[in-house]
Amino acid sequence: MKNLIVANWKCNPTTLKEAKQLFDSIKKSAKNIKKSEVVLCPPFVFLKELSFFKKGSLVFFKLGAQNCFWEKFGAYTGEISLPMLRDLGCEYVIVGHSERRKYFGETNEIVNKKLKAIIDAKLTAILCVGETQEQRNNGETEKVLKEQIIKAIKNISCSKFHVSNVCIAYEPVWAIGTNNPCDHEEAQKMGLLIRKIISEIYSRPVSQKFRLIYGGSVKGDNAAGYIKEAGLNGLLVGGASLDPKEFLGTIKSIE
Ligand code: 13P
Repeated sequence: MKNLIVANWKCNPTTLKEAKQLFDSIKKSAKNIKKSEVVLCPPFVFLKELSFFKKGSLVFFKLGAQNCFWEKFGAYTGEISLPMLRDLGCEYVIVGHSERRKYFGETNEIVNKKLKAIIDAKLTAILCVGETQEQRNNGETEKVLKEQIIKAIKNISCSKFHVSNVCIAYEPVWAIGTNNPCDHEEAQKMGLLIRKIISEIYSRPVSQKFRLIYGGSVKGDNAAGYIKEAGLNGLLVGGASLDPKEFLGTIKSIE
């Protein structure tokens, strides 16, 4: 199984010109990437151009979206559906990111609807879960992760979860954009806990097979430990993915 390295550009950059420059610098300096599957998730508005930019050149990476809507089409002002994303060349979709939960009121129930829709659209979901600092201080980490996962995969069968290659991203909220990454030992512990939760819901074999990645202040100098020491299967990179040098350093450190 290849490591999954996902670049979440969030609401950056502000112009198409900058987006193309960023894409181009990553493309130019990324050579001989063998052990990683790299997914770039730019804002929606850049997807079309970047997928066009990607066509015809021997680019190693895939495109993903940062969010989606669960209905296929209709009178839903402002929403972007999964058939639209697929048409733009997206293969991955991030769902349940803590910033969506915090700023846009996404509940576990909404995450569940989106996750089901992503699976039905035959795209690959990156389901984000993670506790806040306050929840961690109160000893609620396990409870929060359990609730987020159980509710997100409600009514999704074991075989559907397995066949659709759902990936879970452990993203502790306190580590996001803080320069205070979760240390490798703790990330390993949390990874085992998430696999245990999946094992209790589905089965042990399924719990061992899905990809589990880490996100939260990942950079070139701490990336390798999440794979080599914590035994995780990849990374979800925010801030550092906007700096081609740092992002490439992150990928190369685990190659
Ligand atoms: P940072 O890498 O900026 O901490 O962001 C992590 C993240 O939220 C990725 O989805």
